[in-house]
Amino acid sequence: MYKYTCLNPIADVGLKVFSKEYEKVEQLEDAQAVLVRSAAMHDLELPEGILAIARAGAGVNNIPLEECAKKGVVVFNTPGANANGVKELVLAGMLYASRDIVGGMEWLLDNQDDEGIAKKAEKKKKNFAGHEILGKKLGVIGLGAIGVLVANAAAHLGMEVYGYDPYISVNAAWNLDHTVKHIGNVEDIYKTCDFITIHVPLLDSTKGMISKEAISMMKENAVVLNFARDLLVDEKAIVEALEEEKIGCYVSDFPNPITVGAKGCIVTPHLGASTAESEDNCAVMAAKELRDYIENGNIVHSVNYPDCSMGLCETVGRISIMHKNNKGMIAKYTTILGDADVNVSDLTNKGKGEYAYSLIDVDSKVSDDVLEKLSEIDGVFRVRRVK
Ligand SMILES: NC(=O)c1ccc[n+]([C@@H]2O[C@H](COP(=O)([O-])OP(=O)(O)OC[C@H]3O[C@@H](n4cnc5c(N)ncnc54)[C@H](O)[C@@H]3O)[C@@H](O)[C@H]2O)c1
Repeated sequence: MYKYTCLNPIADVGLKVFSKEYEKVEQLEDAQAVLVRSAAMHDLELPEGILAIARAGAGVNNIPLEECAKKGVVVFNTPGANANGVKELVLAGMLYASRDIVGGMEWLLDNQDDEGIAKKAEKKKKNFAGHEILGKKLGVIGLGAIGVLVANAAAHLGMEVYGYDPYISVNAAWNLDHTVKHIGNVEDIYKTCDFITIHVPLLDSTKGMISKEAISMMKENAVVLNFARDLLVDEKAIVEALEEEKIGCYVSDFPNPITVGAKGCIVTPHLGASTAESEDNCAVMAAKELRDYIENGNIVHSVNYPDCSMGLCETVGRISIMHKNNKGMIAKYTTILGDADVNVSDLTNKGKGEYAYSLIDVDSKVSDDVLEKLSEIDGVFRVRRVK
């Protein structure tokens, strides 16, 4: 029986992923697998028995990744599970920026006690008139899980879509609508697009990417949408450009004193992934990652170990080894297994920075003594008999 615990409430549909061979326990000490959302784990003492932690969501700054890696605990997240929720809010952001929906609704609330409101609204509505998005140019910067969905949905709504991502994955490229035009120089997006939406991670290389200079290239009515992270955009420069009417609108999902209430800014309180469906998707994905790791040793979507997968184990046994990404480790493993008369039928080793992971399929049972010898090798953090 495998045991897991939840440090935050996790959607039921996710917990249903666990078969009858899994038991939910209350205490961390009793668990092998942990599901978490935002609970702070930095001050928690991690018990020896914990094999894996899955964050139902994207951000992992509540989890001590290095400490986990050194203790042989793999940490997963659920990239892309909330992509549709964010995509839909980006579409709403474009519509809010194009039509004065907010202004119109606020005027109605201010006049809610007026018996003649219907007639007055007919007169007033020209003040809230806007534009349609059909046929407008949309530039998508970053074509990952969210960017691809935004680009495709906008193309289906009749927009002319331009995509920029020098590091696009093969999978994302396959999923991109064929009408999305590839842009090699991001400046072309700044100069020509009516709507510009950014969907890149916040890294040293992307921080402040939408700079004062980038903003100065934009069209007079350009709408900038930021549902990725506020630090990707020089927001002081954005607010200045809006005040001077050099650009049209800034839509952001990250409230802060610079943008909230500023002229031309539409700000939402980090609602991108706040849907019941996103929560469900994250919970299901997190639980599946844990099961695949516990039952098969496969690592998919880890943030502290390399992804490494050998599918289902078809041989007599499988062992997994978490270790430092040092030279000569594989030779040491195969020597110990060979000396114990254990034939290796398949082996995969993947490294990521300081850490590496080996999966070894074997044709006979590996004894506890052999596992002990493997775990005594300098640089090995954890050895596990998966099957
Ligand atoms: N508003 C919200 O609630 C919410 C929810 C989820 C994610 N996010 C944010 O959205 C971001 C994107 O999420 P995702 O799931 O699409 O991530 P992803 O990792 O699937 O995609 C990111 C894409 O950005 C590309 N990229 C990296 N550097 C680039 C650069 N300099 N120029 C152009 N492209 C670059 C990558 O190649 C990748 O394709 C996340 O990093 C996160 O900050 C926000």
